[in-house]
Parts: sequence; C-alpha cells; structure tokens
Amino acid sequence: MPTPDGPRLLVLKIGGSLFSDKRRDRHLDGAAVRHYARVAAALHRTAPGRVVLVSGGGSYGHGAVRDLDPADPFAALPLTGVNAELRWVWTEALREAGVPAFPVQFAATAVLGADGTPALCGEAVPRLLATGILPVLSGDCLPGHGGRLVVVGSDLVPGALIALAPRATRIVMLTDVDGVMDGPAVVPRLTPATAGSALGVLREAPRWDTTGSMVGKLKALLGHAGDGAECVILNGARAEAAAPFLLEPLSRWPEALPRTTVVADGVPA
Ligand SMILES: Nc1ncnc2c1ncn2[C@@H]1O[C@H](COP(=O)(O)OP(=O)(O)O)[C@@H](O)[C@H]1O
Ligand SMILES: [Mg+2]
Repeated sequence: MPTPDGPRLLVLKIGGSLFSDKRRDRHLDGAAVRHYARVAAALHRTAPGRVVLVSGGGSYGHGAVRDLDPADPFAALPLTGVNAELRWVWTEALREAGVPAFPVQFAATAVLGADGTPALCGEAVPRLLATGILPVLSGDCLPGHGGRLVVVGSDLVPGALIALAPRATRIVMLTDVDGVMDGPAVVPRLTPATAGSALGVLREAPRWDTTGSMVGKLKALLGHAGDGAECVILNGARAEAAAPFLLEPLSRWPEALPRTTVVADGVPA
C-alpha cells in the first residue's frame, strides 16, 4: 500500500553485498558497516520506535548454508551462530553511532506457519519499538514441521514485520544495484501481476549466493507487497548518511533517484 503520510514502520534491510564479499568466508568491511549503521542511526533519530534494521547475511550467512547435508535435519544450525555474530557487529556499530540498538534472533520471535511463511509471535519486537529501541534482525533457521531446520533468508524477514503496522509498512532494501535492471534501464515499478516479464530478465544467481540474488529478493518483495507493504529496492550508495526521504511519502522522494518500487496490484502509481 502507498503510505501517504510516510510509513508508520520502516524496515531497512542492508544487503550483504554492501558490507561483505560473499565469495569469501566471514568477510566484513568494517567501514561499510559503520557507514550504514550511521544511515540507520539517522533514521532512528528521526523516527524512534518506527525503524527496524535487518542485516543481510553476506559471507557469514551464505557461507554457513552453502553446502548443507540434506541428510542432517539440523544442518543449518551454524547459520544461527554466524548471524548472531553479525547482529552483534551491527549492534556495536549502532551503539557507537549513538542509538540504543538491540539484537533480536529471528527464530526467537517468529515461527513458521503451515505454508512455510514466517510470522511474528510475542511482544519482544513491539516492546523494543514502543520503548524507542532499534531492533536489529537478520536471517535465521527456524524449526519446520517435523523438526527440520529451515533457512529463512534476510529478504524474507521483513515480511513478518508487516503485522506490526498493517498497510503502513515500508520495506527498503538497500543493495549494490539501482533496482531491478532491464539491461541498462531500471524497472521503476512492479506488482505481482506485472512481475512476470521482469523475472525473465533476471540473471541466475552465482554459485556462492544461496538466496537467489535479485530473483530471490524480488520474489520475496512481491510476497511482502501482496501482504500490504510498500517495497523499494534502492542502491545503498545513494542512501546518504541522513536520508530522511526514506521516511517520507514516495511522492516526496527525489524524482531522479533510480529505484524499483514493488507494490500490490491496484495501488495507484
Ligand atoms: N536484472 C537484474 N537486475 C538487478 N540485479 C540483478 C539482475 N540480475 C541479477 N542481478 C544480481 O542481483 C544482485 C543483487 O542481489 P544480491 O547480491 O542478493 O544483493 P544483496 O546482497 O543486497 O542481497 C546484483 O548485484 C546483480 O548481480
Ligand atoms: Mg541477496
């Protein structure tokens, strides 16, 4: 849904490609983490209690689930360990940037529904927001039916947060490209009904990427849009340290700013 007064909840997902080299193991670009922590901190200061940070997995997350043994139902467990480290790195960087940030394990605050979709449960995240704390989430593995651990990538995490502000949630995914590219052009707007052709122009994910790169991201966002969120894919390099437009109605965003907006069918442009 469009948010004419700006979103009540902004979920900012920082793509792993912006702070980590996924081809390597446990690689982090500390300066990039500090930079994006300042971006998130500025947004939090503008709208305390209305911003959630979701970290991409980068080489930590993708490295942990690249070669899982299908015979071991608990094979994905190390993902929980490395993502805890990653959330802690963000939490410290956010504290350095002067905001009260708190790491939240996704599996401790969400469960998989019968259709495999994660849904938020419990009061932990709403309580953090209500008390002006910035929650820091990431992907995780969650117990499925039968006890097998199911990998939930970070692009899917924002979907569970929509319930906190139905029809008033904006999901901004910062990544290393300007949006969904059709050759040199950015596709400005997609809905579930118009996405078919766009999915056709997406290149296959490289071997080291376990969540389908842009294909996975777009599929996740189409689901989130169907659940009522206003979603934007934006180049992290264009999100300045104080990017207050991220909290403004889309109509007030810089016109020349390339991005792909993903919304439900029937939402007016
Ligand atoms: N048509 C496309 N438009 C944009 N990105 C694409 C396209 N096809 C493949 N990609 C790849 O998807 C990548 C972004 O997804 P990903 O690496 O998963 O980002 P993140 O780290 O933010 O999750 C781009 O860097 C690009 O290499
Ligand atoms: Mg990705």
